[in-house]
Amino acid sequence: MNDLIIQNIKQLVLPKSTERPLKGAELDELTIVENGTVVVKDGKVVYSGPYTKDYEATEVIDASHHVVSPALVDAHTHLVHGGSREHEMSLKRQGLSYLEILERGGGILSTVEATRTATEDELFAKAEHDLLTMIHHGVLAVESKSGYGLDKDNELKQLHVSRRLQEKYGIDMRHTFLGPHAVPKEATSNEAFLQQMIDLLPDVKELADFADIFCETGVFTIEESRRYMQAAKDQGFRVKIHADEIDPLGGLGLAIDEAAISADHLVAASDEDKAKLADSDTVAVLLPGTTFYLGKNDYADARGMLENNGAIAIATDFNPGSCVTNNLQMVMAIAALKLKLSPNEVWNAVTVNAAKAIDVDAGTINEGDKANIVIWHAPNHEYIPYHYGINHVDTVIHEGRVIVKRDLTLK
Ligand code: NIG
Ligand code: FE
Repeated sequence: MNDLIIQNIKQLVLPKSTERPLKGAELDELTIVENGTVVVKDGKVVYSGPYTKDYEATEVIDASHHVVSPALVDAHTHLVHGGSREHEMSLKRQGLSYLEILERGGGILSTVEATRTATEDELFAKAEHDLLTMIHHGVLAVESKSGYGLDKDNELKQLHVSRRLQEKYGIDMRHTFLGPHAVPKEATSNEAFLQQMIDLLPDVKELADFADIFCETGVFTIEESRRYMQAAKDQGFRVKIHADEIDPLGGLGLAIDEAAISADHLVAASDEDKAKLADSDTVAVLLPGTTFYLGKNDYADARGMLENNGAIAIATDFNPGSCVTNNLQMVMAIAALKLKLSPNEVWNAVTVNAAKAIDVDAGTINEGDKANIVIWHAPNHEYIPYHYGINHVDTVIHEGRVIVKRDLTLK
């Protein structure tokens, strides 16, 4: 006997199972089944496709007014952090840029202060609330970065919190060491601090899946980033990079040369580097919620990357300074509007390709996959990036078990 059948599904969204990330025109290919069925047994998908009544199960959910899809994947977050930075909004109104606030010791460095001061349990409680909010918004796979500790104890503290969250909730998580995220006040030079972070790599190896660096004007140069990435690879890490977010330093080209699993942001990436995506499986993780929050007019050139046969994914970049939302649905809307992605491209970018960007077994619900499924209160899959800023989740199913059922009736 099966455990669960989701029956009469108005629209069933089925990204393709693939070894490599979807690239270029493939992002626009998405199977949408009108009137579908999903069957689950022992936490796995037994069947997903056109309507069938060939199966029986102990529980049946009628989804005749709903869209059903794989649970979403958030491939870039700074989930674990102390404090918040609402005071920076007035600095921004006065005209200070993101990098100017950082130069004055604010920005990332003020979150470093708050993260260092917080106990591990305080950080855990805050990140837990933010993670549960993500899950309630349909996300069941999350990448989580350190990078607000900037010293051994505090980087380890952040990574421990991230690991504890994974243990407590059993969802798919990937943990990223982002020691070179900013240069702390006590550092004698960028160079010396970078070396300290390189020396930390063996200490975080047990806890972190990836090593990441912020390559940006005033933070780390291309040469420093290359040195760090190579050192991390030598220690067995797969690498990521915050690249070309504000200034076109060439971080995308470096990521491709170093076979990074992803290069993230890429708002200012050069045409030359974008062309290199064609021959690479490095996933361009685009974070349009950040561009929106920083008040910029120019967004990453997603269309150009797809025309160059690149692989793209979309993520929140959830953090307390440059993108203060953990609602990936909101970022799907910004991607549709500002990156000019089609609904199919948006869905692939937050499911199967996001999973490739963090090497996690997620983002598809084809036969044999984990039954990580969202039932959406929406008439069709285009509706979710269209009706923006609110939560369309009806039900979240984790490995076959209903863990969220939203009920809008009032007490
Ligand atoms: O991805 N750009 C660097 N790091 C984060 C922002 C972190 C912060 O402002 O606290 C980002 O945007
Ligand atoms: Fe980031």
